Amino acid sequence: MVGQRFVSLLEHHPWFEAKWLAASERSAGKPYAEACNWRLRDPMPKAVREFSVHECKPGSAPQLVFSSLDSKVAGEVEKEFAAAGHVVVSNSSNHRMDPDVPLLIPDVNPEHLALARTQKQQRGWKGMIVTNPNCTTVGLVMSLAPFEKRFGLEKVMMTSMQAVSGAGYPGLPTLDILANVIPYIGGEEEKVECETRKLLGKFADAQVKPGDFSVSAHCNRVMVEDGHTESISISLKTKVTLEDLLEAWRTYRSVPQERGLPSAPEHPIIVREERDRPQVKFDLNAEHGMATVVGRLRPCPVLQFKYTALSHNTIRGAAGAALLNAKLMKSEGYLDY
Ligand SMILES: NC(=O)c1ccc[n+]([C@@H]2O[C@H](COP(=O)([O-])OP(=O)(O)OC[C@H]3O[C@@H](n4cnc5c(N)ncnc54)[C@H](OP(=O)(O)O)[C@@H]3O)[C@@H](O)[C@H]2O)c1
Repeated sequence: MVGQRFVSLLEHHPWFEAKWLAASERSAGKPYAEACNWRLRDPMPKAVREFSVHECKPGSAPQLVFSSLDSKVAGEVEKEFAAAGHVVVSNSSNHRMDPDVPLLIPDVNPEHLALARTQKQQRGWKGMIVTNPNCTTVGLVMSLAPFEKRFGLEKVMMTSMQAVSGAGYPGLPTLDILANVIPYIGGEEEKVECETRKLLGKFADAQVKPGDFSVSAHCNRVMVEDGHTESISISLKTKVTLEDLLEAWRTYRSVPQERGLPSAPEHPIIVREERDRPQVKFDLNAEHGMATVVGRLRPCPVLQFKYTALSHNTIRGAAGAALLNAKLMKSEGYLDY
């Protein structure tokens, strides 16, 4: 699912061009058009149809490699590529919480990228691994970042309604998900809880100190194709009004916007005023799937405030996120060697 998004987003890209594709031994040696069961509505780009799919081994691959491997294999394969000198921009979970691996959202914590230099030194690699967060973490953290930076977070509760494309292809059996809600996604709640604190942590002395707030996540799979919706409640360290929070969202800009990185959303957070938005049906593709759409901000009788956030899981939560990481890296000279 994510590999196809990469291929699609790389078509006509101003900075990067798809040159090499690799997957499991099931696909290796086949033309991409035969190996891949293309599930996107946009047609498969012509340029890649005849690419012969490689085995997942370094050597013939270009310097910059985007990884969306199954997490059963990503851990070792990504290390092998980084040791061989490749810049691995990964979407898999295996290395996200390694202390010397940047876990990045360029609109939130671009300064954490400097961890990659420590990583290269400590591991003696010619290349490096840089990661983006879990697809559920992205929308949550994008919506929290302006609050943490201005007012300080104390507590966060998040309940997700996650799309089926988040489970990869072919994903869940129809009989499990049809007309159903599944209140369990293995490992997801733990990922959201740890990654959120790392992403919103402070970078100092070549390490990241996790944010000093607590996060509790409930993750559910629902019968939506793409787009993770989240109900979020928060309490803050500072006394603020609803207007302060709305203003923090509306005015939020960061490095990708300042540098005009290609495909960075002009408005990373879009606030919907209607009482029944955001909705997958109308808001999923805001800013080409790169914006986080929020709404329904109101007081919370248990914590202080509550709201809804929506984010595209295979674009902002996966391939689009990794591409933006690579653009940040290019803009800082990490790809110049
Ligand atoms: N879907 C999402 O919304 C999402 C969001 C964020 C992060 N992620 C993460 O991104 C990764 C990919 O997710 P996905 O949804 O795209 O999964 P997917 O559709 O199941 O694709 C997994 C890919 O891994 C390849 N693979 C499996 N075993 C391999 C092996 N032994 N050697 C080399 N390649 C192998 C598969 O190759 P074949 O094509 O040959 O089978 C396939 O291309 C996962 O780690 C997932 O947790 C997914």
